[in-house]
Amino acid sequence: MTRVGVVGATGAVGSVTLGLLAERGFEHVRAFASSRSAGKQVPFGEGELAVEEATPDVLGAGELDLCFFSVGTGASRELVPPTAAGGTVCIDKSDAFRLTDGVPLVVAGVNDSALDHDEIVANPNCSAIQLSCVLKPLHEAAGLASVRLATYQSMSGIGDAGIEKLRVTEPADGDLAMDWDLEGEEFSEESKLRAETRKILDLPDLPLQAQCVRVPVLVGHAQAIWVETAQPLSAGEAREVLGSAPHVALEDFATPKDAAGRDEVLVGRVRADTANGTGLALWSVNDNLRKGAALNAVQIAEALLERRLVRA
Ligand SMILES: NC(=O)c1ccc[n+]([C@@H]2O[C@H](COP(=O)([O-])OP(=O)(O)OC[C@H]3O[C@@H](n4cnc5c(N)ncnc54)[C@H](OP(=O)(O)O)[C@@H]3O)[C@@H](O)[C@H]2O)c1
Repeated sequence: MTRVGVVGATGAVGSVTLGLLAERGFEHVRAFASSRSAGKQVPFGEGELAVEEATPDVLGAGELDLCFFSVGTGASRELVPPTAAGGTVCIDKSDAFRLTDGVPLVVAGVNDSALDHDEIVANPNCSAIQLSCVLKPLHEAAGLASVRLATYQSMSGIGDAGIEKLRVTEPADGDLAMDWDLEGEEFSEESKLRAETRKILDLPDLPLQAQCVRVPVLVGHAQAIWVETAQPLSAGEAREVLGSAPHVALEDFATPKDAAGRDEVLVGRVRADTANGTGLALWSVNDNLRKGAALNAVQIAEALLERRLVRA
């Protein structure tokens, strides 16, 4: 029996994590959040779990084998180290430890070999997960020379507050629901995407330029990607490579709505980049709350269990 904790159980990612754990038959699961939500009930499978307050003492008591954290960076910095010190393997979805030396940053199906670790494992930014699933097979086939992309990221990517913001600005009389959000966070989103993708692919010098934008979509991030490869790779060859890659499904013209609720990164419109002799242009969409966050974390847990780095 694996004793599992989900911290941030009332949030956008935490609630999806609970759903995935219930589907996969995990039974010994405890739900945690801040003092604001202690005592509330959250759905778990057919039933409910009572939310407990997450404190360093409770989480560090060594009563859990595995713990998922989907709280903000500050809360992760406060709660994850004492939990790990108590002997619990921690899978953290914030950016607190992603670039820390010695902490594996893992996309299941892309760099599982980095999972040599039984303390803290970091789950990447949703856009870096989506991009790495596409880039890894292309890199193995022809080597990556450079990558450029534009992202169109959904409001659930910033959690329940983003979902609420979209709901209260529903379009009236056909007006655009909200303007594109080009505030400062987007620039940190771009540097996270670059640094994390380089770490995941173990390509520290990969030239990568991103233009990240938040759009009025509930769930599902989209990416328009331009890749330059070291060796020639035709669009047909790229489709073949991507078609057999883990966690990728070929689907032309997929929208965020098509991706919502799906496990795979949907990739399509693979074609030669006419502006660049060795370039390819692609389109991808992914459910940011599933493979982009909760599902990837659960797949990391499954890989840890398989490697006996967590008590089964
Ligand atoms: N949304 C995505 O697509 C996505 C993708 C990848 C990574 N992430 C990362 O995942 C984390 C959570 O994101 P989210 O989108 O799920 O956010 P969210 O919807 O705002 O949920 C935040 C959760 O954290 C809890 N929390 C906040 N402060 C806490 C504290 N001091 N102690 C214990 N629990 C605390 C909240 O509990 P209360 O109910 O008590 O407030 C809530 O359950 C963030 O670090 C985010 O960057 C999100």
